[in-house]
This record gives sequence, C-alpha cells and structure tokens, in this order.
Amino acid sequence: MKPLPKKIVCIGAGYVGGPTMAVIADRCPAIEVTVVDLNAARIAAWNSAQLPVYEPGLDAVVQRARGRNLFFLGQTEGAKKLADADLIFISVNTPTKTEGEGAGKASDLRYVESCAQFIAEHARGHTIVVEKSTMPVRAADTIKRILAQNPHGGTFEVLSNPEFLAEGTAIRDLESPDRVLIGGERPEPIEVLASVYRQWVPAERIITTGLWSAELAKLAANAFLAQRVSSINALSALCEVTGAQVDEVARVVGSDSRIGPKFLKASVGFGGSCFKKDILSLVYLCEFHGVPEAAAYWQQVIDLNEWQKRRFADKIIRQLGAKKGKVAVLGLAFKKDTNDFRESAAIDICRQLLAAGLEVVTYDPQVDFAAFCQAAGIAKGMRPAHAIQEVLSGASAVAVLTEWDEFRSIDWAAVAPKLTPGTVIYDGRNVIDLQIIQKAGMQINSVGVQNIN
Ligand code: UDX
Ligand code: UDX
Repeated sequence: MKPLPKKIVCIGAGYVGGPTMAVIADRCPAIEVTVVDLNAARIAAWNSAQLPVYEPGLDAVVQRARGRNLFFLGQTEGAKKLADADLIFISVNTPTKTEGEGAGKASDLRYVESCAQFIAEHARGHTIVVEKSTMPVRAADTIKRILAQNPHGGTFEVLSNPEFLAEGTAIRDLESPDRVLIGGERPEPIEVLASVYRQWVPAERIITTGLWSAELAKLAANAFLAQRVSSINALSALCEVTGAQVDEVARVVGSDSRIGPKFLKASVGFGGSCFKKDILSLVYLCEFHGVPEAAAYWQQVIDLNEWQKRRFADKIIRQLGAKKGKVAVLGLAFKKDTNDFRESAAIDICRQLLAAGLEVVTYDPQVDFAAFCQAAGIAKGMRPAHAIQEVLSGASAVAVLTEWDEFRSIDWAAVAPKLTPGTVIYDGRNVIDLQIIQKAGMQINSVGVQNIN
C-alpha cells in the first residue's frame, strides 16, 4: 500500500473548507493541512478563539489540531505551501452568475478559475487538484485547461470530491459520513485521496465514480433533498385548507421504507447557500444541453419554495392589515445550530413584512444582525432584540422562522400578558406545542395545520 500523502492545502476557509480540513487534520495527524484564504479577516478569525463559523463540536476539533498539523494562512504565505502540496482542495464559493451567459442560473466559476490560476502559478512537480466546491458537470475541463498552462512544467490530476455535510451537523457528518464520493479519470489519484479518508471512514462508504458522474451526483443529491422539502411544503398548503395535519401525513409517508422519514419537515421554505444555487445550476445545465422539460421540472422545486415563503408572510400581513404593529421574528438563520443566513427564508419574509409597513424586531441566538441586514439589503425598519422576552414584548404577531431548540421551551403562559391582545403566533417550523398555546389562551397558525381561529 502506498504511503499517505504528506501535505494538503485547501483554498477557501469557508463553511465547507474550514470544518472539512479541521476534521482531516484531526483524523490524520501525520498529514500537514494548510487552509488558505484571501480574506485576511477570516484567516485571523480561524486563528483566534472566536472561529468565523458556528458549528457544534468545531471548536474542540480545531483546538486539537491547530498549530499541530492544521494551519490557517493568508494568500501570500499560503502560496508558498502550494509548491510541495500533494493534494490541493478548491473550496471557494461558486455563486449564481449575475451577468453574462446564464445569468441568474449558471454557477459563476470565476473564483474557481482564479484558484486554478493560483495553483498553476505556484504548484511544482505532480499535484492532485480536488474539486470540493459544488461545480457544474464538466467544470473539471475548465480547471484542467488552466492548469495545463502552468509555467513550470508541472503535471496535474483533477478529482471531484463533493462535500455532503449539512451545516449545524457538519462535524458529525464529516466524522461519520453516509458516503464519501471521489470521482476521477484514473485509479491512482483516486487511491491517494481515498487513503486519506480511509483513516477514519470505513472503506465501503467510499464511493468512486467517473469525474462527470461525481460532479453531477452532488447537484442531483441536493436537488433530491430540496425536492422533498418542496413536496411536503406543497402538501402543507393543502393540509391547511382540508384539516389534514402535515406532520401526520409526513409520518405516514416517511414510514414507507422506500421513502424514508428524513427531509419531510414542512417549513417556511428551505434556505442555505446550496439548494437554490445548485438547482438553478442544474436547470441551466438542462437548458444548455437541450432538455428543457427536465429544466422546467427542477425549476418548479424553486418556484414552490419562493411561493411558500411569500404565502407565510402574506398570512401575517393579512391578519395585521391596516392595524400595522410589531412583528416579533424568532430566528434569522436558515436552520438551527448555525450562524449562516445565506438564502434564509427570513430574508424574504422580513423584507416583505417591512414593505407592508410593519415594524420588525428580530431575535436569533447566533446570527449577526448587522451582517444580516446588510446582506438582505435592509437599511431601516428592523431592529434586533437580545433575548426572547425582549423580542416578544408588545408584539402583535410572532413569526417563528428557525427551529432553534430554545424556541420550543418558551413559557407562553408567562409571555402572554406581554403580547398585544389577539396576537397570533405564526409557526413556520412547527416547533411550538399547539396545546400549550391554546392553554395560554393564545392563537397559533402553524404551517400545514388548519387555522381554527
Ligand atoms: C463553498 C461553495 O459556495 C459551495 O458551492 C461548495 O459546495 C462548498 O464551498 P462555503 O464554504 O459555504 O461553500 O463558501 P464560503 O463560506 O463563501 O467560503 C468560501 C471562501 O473562499 C471564502 O472565505 C473566500 O474568501 C474564499 N476565497 C474565495 C478564496 O480564498 N479565494 C478565492 O479566489 C475566492
Ligand atoms: C445541504 C445538504 O443537506 C448537504 O448535503 C449539502 O452538502 C449542502 O446543502 P445545508 O444547506 O447545510 O445542506 O442544510 P440542510 O439540512 O440540507 O437544510 C437546507 C434547508 O432545508 C434548511 O433551510 C432547512 O431548514 C430546510 N429543510 C430541511 C426543511 O425545510 N425541511 C426538512 O425536512 C429539511
């Protein structure tokens, strides 16, 4: 058996690159792992006590490996590390294009291309370049073309090793993954990368495929997951007008072993940096390759999600009507246990409430309020509260947008007198117990449950 690679570099210290490399370093003490990012503030944060990413369990993993065989470096220092790296991961963002061919749908590969350029300039000898960021199928062609232009006669192999971690459970997902996917054109480089994962992942969970299948499989996996959420959300609307309860329907549907129980939780709409971007990329690929029927099919998963968010905000606006008043928003993160709010349903919902002239006060245990407002393009009308009691005080409507555990244990009987009489709780996550609310003499409108008020 060949020895393990000695040096790994990862470009991109984001939500994916940082935790993934931390776990590799933790599980492979013999490998030197360096994470490089052009954002100096982000690197400084990775080197501090206050990591830039909130993830349960991440602090402990970083503490064990940082300074031992895990290093976070800026672009200039990092460039030197590329020369003798055996494996270089690309884990930079691949946002939706905002202009040019495919604007609004296709993935923007500009950062990936500049990484490939950076690698071509600094790598020496033979290097395996690993696509960790989600890429459109055949993106490796672009990377290979750029690497081939390197000035030092270096040789390269490109692998696709997409990440399946979900935020909030990233460390658990990395330490005990359902599967690790490695796509490549030749067995030797695949074996090098597989040898790293085999340090802690059972060999049978390491799936190897061709390069293009691996690239497409990642988009497909996210599309299937998002499709389940849109399917249950479509049913939630029907439940609300028929008296069926969406959680009961989901339990029955999910107990069929062919379907399975996960990802059937009705919600205010899915968010996160991946689902929308990856499905749009899939839609674009279908259109580009001449299969518009498939494009229309996947587009509907997104359209339904946009509708679900609008529908939720519309309910609140209809209830408050001309009375206006304060809406208490509980949760800004796109899901619990993360400080990430990219594409969070809260962005669209807060904007819609503000546009209707409502006062919006928010509380989230991890999200940075100023950063949220800036990213959401919200300049005024919204303010933060620092505790649940504060956000709820004087509210005319309550909107639960993230399923944080602490929202499940709110003492509604104690809170009730502080709310405006007639306040309705709009539970976009079905985390509030209906009976407790009814006992407290309050009204609740949960997603996928008929409103009996
Ligand atoms: C990224 C991609 O968005 C996603 O498609 C993929 O599936 C996983 O990797 P994430 O880690 O969440 O996701 O992105 P982000 O948190 O934005 O981190 C990317 C980092 O790359 C940023 O810190 C950015 O500064 C850095 N970067 C970007 C570089 O270091 N160099 C570049 O050229 C571009
Ligand atoms: C997703 C994929 O799960 C992961 O494999 C991939 O690597 C990146 O994209 P992530 O976006 O971090 O991960 O979180 P995920 O748990 O998938 O949730 C995405 C969104 O769907 C969240 O807004 C979540 O609240 C929502 N969701 C999820 C539901 O509304 N209902 C569900 O049943 C499950």
